[in-house]
Amino acid sequence: MKLLFATANANKVRELKQLLAKSAIELLSSDDVGGLAPVEEDGTSFAENALKKARAAAEQTGYPAIADDSGLQVDALGGRPGVHSARYAGPNATDQQRNEKLLGELAELGEVERGARFVCAIALVYPDGRHVVVEDECRGQILEAPAGTGGFGYDPLFFVPELGCTFAEAEASLKNQLSHRGRALRQLVKLLES
Ligand code: IMP
Repeated sequence: MKLLFATANANKVRELKQLLAKSAIELLSSDDVGGLAPVEEDGTSFAENALKKARAAAEQTGYPAIADDSGLQVDALGGRPGVHSARYAGPNATDQQRNEKLLGELAELGEVERGARFVCAIALVYPDGRHVVVEDECRGQILEAPAGTGGFGYDPLFFVPELGCTFAEAEASLKNQLSHRGRALRQLVKLLES
C-alpha cells in the first residue's frame, strides 16, 4: 500500500518512515508526487487542520494521505498559543521571538502554574473520503529561561519531568519516544497495521 505524507517537513517524513520500516506500507512524500497545493490552516482545532490537509492531498493525488497538525497549549494562557503556535508572534517571527513572547506573557501573570502540553493530531484520508484522526499529547512545564539547543520551536522552554530536561536537551530518539508526535504516530501505525 502506498501512503502519502502531506508535509513539507523532511524530519517528520523520516520519523514516520522509521516507524513503518517493517510494515508493507510505502511512504511517499510531497516531492514524490510533484508537490502539493498549499492549504490554509484556518481550523479551530488540530484535528480539523490535519483533516483539511490530508483531505486536500488525497483529493489532489488519488493516494490515501496523512497529514498532521501540532502545537503548544499553556494552561495559564487558557490553552494558547494552541492552533496558532506557528504564527503566535507574527507570520515571519523566529522560534526565538515566539519563545520570548511566551516568556513575556507568562511573566506578566506573575506567580502562576507553568503546566503545558504539546498536542499532535494526525489525519488519514482515503480517496473515497473515509477518514480517521488520532491525537496524542505530552505534558510538561514551561521554564523561565530556555535550556538546550536541539529540537525546534518551543523545545528549549518545554521541561519534561520523565526526562529531567527540556526537549531541546534530550536525544532525538528520547524525544520521539515521549513526544506528542511520536505517540500519535505510533497510534496511527497500529491502526494501519490492524
Ligand atoms: P506544525 O504542526 O508543524 O505546523 O507545528 C506548529 C508549531 O507548533 C511549530 O511551528 C512549533 O512552533 C510548535 N511545535 C509543534 N511541535 C513541536 C515540537 O515538537 N517542539 C517544539 N515546538 C513544536
